[in-house]
Amino acid sequence: MRGIEAATSLLRSAERVVVFTGAGVSAESGIPTYRTGDNAFWSVEKFERFANPRGYHAHLPDSYEWYRQRAIAVAAAKPNPAHAAIVELSSRVPQLVVVTQNVDGLHLRAGSRDVIELHGHLRTARCDACGAEVAWASAPPDPRCAGCRGMLRPNVVMFEEMLSATDLARARSAAEGCDVLISAGTSNVVWPAKELPMIARSAGASLIIVNPDLTDQPWGHRIVHLEGRAGDLLPRIVRGL
Ligand code: OAD
Repeated sequence: MRGIEAATSLLRSAERVVVFTGAGVSAESGIPTYRTGDNAFWSVEKFERFANPRGYHAHLPDSYEWYRQRAIAVAAAKPNPAHAAIVELSSRVPQLVVVTQNVDGLHLRAGSRDVIELHGHLRTARCDACGAEVAWASAPPDPRCAGCRGMLRPNVVMFEEMLSATDLARARSAAEGCDVLISAGTSNVVWPAKELPMIARSAGASLIIVNPDLTDQPWGHRIVHLEGRAGDLLPRIVRGL
């Protein structure tokens, strides 16, 4: 595949690499994506109930239980060959940062060290009132905080909420300073994360896009497209190095 050769050649000479990931990278671990497939998380109904703070609070306790079940499912999922290839790649290039939109924690569990979880994670819930954190593994079925009786919520960034300014600044700076940004398994539609590939490209980096559906991905000069699954293509890129 010519794209693989082009990708490996870019990575061989890269000093700084950003791997920007979305739900497609975890699809092969059995975790649904948000916008594709029959079991996608964001059906219209689920989006209204669970995706923003208003919907979440209006639909308690169902919304809490929905996140609790997601956290349980994610904890049972295992990293797949795409996560492993990213870990391996980090040992082949001088510097690699993973910037993920995923909340499943699978990059960390696979062994990636420098990971920015832009949209938070499903390891803990936190109390809206007192800020106390509780691991989902021991979170009660009732969404009330044991300490203050406030409402528990997931430690993810919902729509209409701000990303951590520190995480976003670090991600932007990594994109600005990289030689190659690999964008894998993301529909690239959610702002501000979707800016990162373009920030990298405007600063002179090359992009490698890995996705089975390339329709809405960026195209143009210095962009290599690899059409297919991350769990197949990322290991092939690393094997070619
Ligand atoms: P999406 O569901 O929008 O997109 C998933 C992408 O993965 C699509 O482009 C698929 O074509 C692709 N895909 C599917 N299977 C794949 C595979 N095996 N290998 C590679 N790619 C594959 O998910 P995201 O782009 O991650 O935010 O969505 C971004 C954000 O929107 C999420 O972080 C979440 C959501 O709302 C919040 O919840 C705040």
